[in-house]
Amino acid sequence: MAKRILIIDDEVSIQESLSGILQDEGFIPLCASSAESGIILLEEEQADLVLLDIWMGKSMDGMAALEIIKERFSVPVIMISGHATIETAVQATRKGAYDFIEKPLSYDKIILAINNGLRYAQLEQENRLLRENNKGPVSLTGNSAVIKALRAQIAMVAPADAWVLIRGAHGTGKEIVAQSIHQLSQSCNQPMVEVNCAAIPEELIESELFGHEKGSFTGAHTSKRGKFDQADGGILFLDEIGDMSLKTQAKILRILQEQKFERVGGNKTISVNVRVLAATNKNLEEEIEKGNFRADLFWRLNVVPIQVPLLRDRLEDIPLLVQDLVKGLAAKGMKPKVFSEGAHQALMTHSWPGNVRELRNFIERLIIMCPDTVITETEVHTFLNPAIIPGKSSDTDNDQSGLLPYLAADFREAKKSFERHYLQLKLLENDGNISQTAEQIGLERSHLHKKLKSLYLINET
Ligand SMILES: Nc1ncnc2c1ncn2[C@@H]1O[C@H](COP(=O)(O)OP(=O)(O)OP(=O)(O)O)[C@@H](O)[C@H]1O
Ligand SMILES: [Mg+2]
Repeated sequence: MAKRILIIDDEVSIQESLSGILQDEGFIPLCASSAESGIILLEEEQADLVLLDIWMGKSMDGMAALEIIKERFSVPVIMISGHATIETAVQATRKGAYDFIEKPLSYDKIILAINNGLRYAQLEQENRLLRENNKGPVSLTGNSAVIKALRAQIAMVAPADAWVLIRGAHGTGKEIVAQSIHQLSQSCNQPMVEVNCAAIPEELIESELFGHEKGSFTGAHTSKRGKFDQADGGILFLDEIGDMSLKTQAKILRILQEQKFERVGGNKTISVNVRVLAATNKNLEEEIEKGNFRADLFWRLNVVPIQVPLLRDRLEDIPLLVQDLVKGLAAKGMKPKVFSEGAHQALMTHSWPGNVRELRNFIERLIIMCPDTVITETEVHTFLNPAIIPGKSSDTDNDQSGLLPYLAADFREAKKSFERHYLQLKLLENDGNISQTAEQIGLERSHLHKKLKSLYLINET
């Protein structure tokens, strides 16, 4: 894709000669005659690099503009000046300029500096993407036949540039599938821009997707690029697509087909080249029948369908998943713990309606709540026990008194057992935070701490 270079210089002759050179080299030049109009152009149109003059007659000077550009945009800036001193060059570099070139401009020097600047920006973006993901390459943990088949499907579809509809229940790993496709795709060095269709309020979704022009609605103080724009050359991941309103579905259908759109409040047509991945936990065929989802949008998105399996259909992956999840939690600062063979077996008897996300939360809970380094089936059963985990149905459904779990013990044991269950539950509600729990249940923090220790619910000193 041709790179866009913004020239900010008050001399028309410089704009013209630079534009010519840039065009010859296959770049798209954009011109602004003042710092102010250059900054507006940057806001409205994307540029990959800026050539910025230092002394500009009536306009804000280049140094001040450099500061604003560095603050608001992540774009490399090359300063150009006819009155350069070493001091100004140093100052510009300190303020974040990528390079400094003296006028009269040499063709070779300017092209070399631009190419270096673009390469540098590309590396910076790759670094940023890596840092943002921070997980290194994501991978789908598991060796079951269904996961192997899923990995094979991803490996086939990712480089093909095809649109993919990722389907599966809550917490099965749809987002990880999308990230894996991105990593193995031709646009792995380009961004994958995510839009959670369920999380954006209806009235904001258009502006979020397509961007808006300054003043197009109350509160639109500046122009803003939308997600479609940001994903140009890369991937747009429409998560929870089944939750998109019919009105927005109609809008995006046309745009997905034409890859062209106008910003909210604007009339300029913007063309993009975007690969779309969509994910949903809804049964879209049923939603189409009910009139909640457009059939034409479904067919447009569903070029390659990928079904992510339920955890209960790959229970044999649990030991590996536990190992990875413990490692992941340890990297976040949690105590690494070992799960015994019996604990794995116990975990494999549960049906995991919340899939890997439920398993992950459960492992986290066990790590927080179990004092021992080795977690055995006893802990797993205790925590999976419907008597202490809210919202689970079981035989205790008929236990209207709620006392069934305590009746076999004498008073002291029953009291202790109740305290243990009660406090475990309250700690769970408060994500293991002792101060918060103490406040919720009306105990002094120090008293609760002592109590938890005496019940072996914590082992810290
Ligand atoms: N195969 C897997 N290997 C390792 N971790 C996984 C796997 N699948 C899911 N996870 C973990 O489970 C959690 C849920 O995964 P993810 O967010 O991808 O699910 P989802 O299908 O998008 O869920 P939802 O429909 O609720 O948005 C995440 O913490 C993720 O890291
Ligand atoms: Mg998701």
